Amino acid sequence: MLEKINAIKEEINAAVATNLQEVEELRIKYLSKKGSISQLMVDFRTVPAEMKRELGQKINELKNYATEKIASLKEGFATAADSDAEAIDLTRTATPYELGTRHPLSLVKNEMLRIFAGMGFTIAEGPEIEDDWHVFESLNFPPDHPARDMQDTFFISRDPKDILLRTHTSSVQTRVMEKTQPPIRIVCPGRVYRNEAISARAHCFFHQVEGLYIDKNVSFADLKQVLLGFARQMFGPETKIRLRPSYFPFTEPSAEMDISCDICGGKGCAFCKGTGWVEILGCGMVDPNVLDACGIDSKVYSGYAFGMGIERITNLKYKVKDLRMFSENDVRFLREFESAR
Ligand code: PHE
Repeated sequence: MLEKINAIKEEINAAVATNLQEVEELRIKYLSKKGSISQLMVDFRTVPAEMKRELGQKINELKNYATEKIASLKEGFATAADSDAEAIDLTRTATPYELGTRHPLSLVKNEMLRIFAGMGFTIAEGPEIEDDWHVFESLNFPPDHPARDMQDTFFISRDPKDILLRTHTSSVQTRVMEKTQPPIRIVCPGRVYRNEAISARAHCFFHQVEGLYIDKNVSFADLKQVLLGFARQMFGPETKIRLRPSYFPFTEPSAEMDISCDICGGKGCAFCKGTGWVEILGCGMVDPNVLDACGIDSKVYSGYAFGMGIERITNLKYKVKDLRMFSENDVRFLREFESAR
């Protein structure tokens, strides 16, 4: 019996395998119920009692040795699995992963920024949580001025009501003017907040792109030309614009701009309420008070500003009727913009 044990040990010692299948065959040969080591156990029963101790120990050692050897052979293949042609099929098609689509507001924002970049505007961004100075005071809204009610504000601090969610990205213009001397030519994209009930036509947050240009001898004609260029690139070369007098505390004179209705081509339809025009933005010449408040000499410099909602432009471009669609993230809606990616 001792000879048999030694012979099996030699065999195992010399055993090699070239793949996992062969390791398994070795396991069956030595360690399975019918394997040669199990057979030794059967023979062991008939061994004379005085030899049991020694032989039993040897058989156990052999069994442990075989188990370890097989485990180590197996490990070699597990770590080298990718060199094993049978374990990984490199010709299999990969699991596809789904590509997302850009949000329509991002698509339109990028398009707007691209157009303004082409006219020399750079991008400026600022915080959504602001203070009264940057959103109101510096922009010529004195305390208790009724124009503050034009924008229903979410206040963060109560007493005093100083910290708030910005109601327009004009606050970014203030921040840039405070730090930079003209010429300044920037567009400010970003999210803004107003305390309004949510409906198809209003939301408590939306997105804006506002523009600012300050230099010597900037005129209203410059403003009009830039806005006409923007409207034609955004809505097509036939687009007409119309400026109507309006009021904003930070611009004087102020105007609102309409474009000829994209849907009926200006003839009048339900979308433009029969007028042939739709409003898209507010604009004007920067009020000298604003320049002075931000440390820019209003006797030397002048400038214009404009601001528009990205949702509004997107509604016009893609005929989205309900503002809530933009924030619900319904993939059926978002997938409609796949081709615009
Ligand atoms: N800040 C204004 C708004 O949010 C838009 C605007 C910007 C108007 C610049 C005129 C000049 O409604």
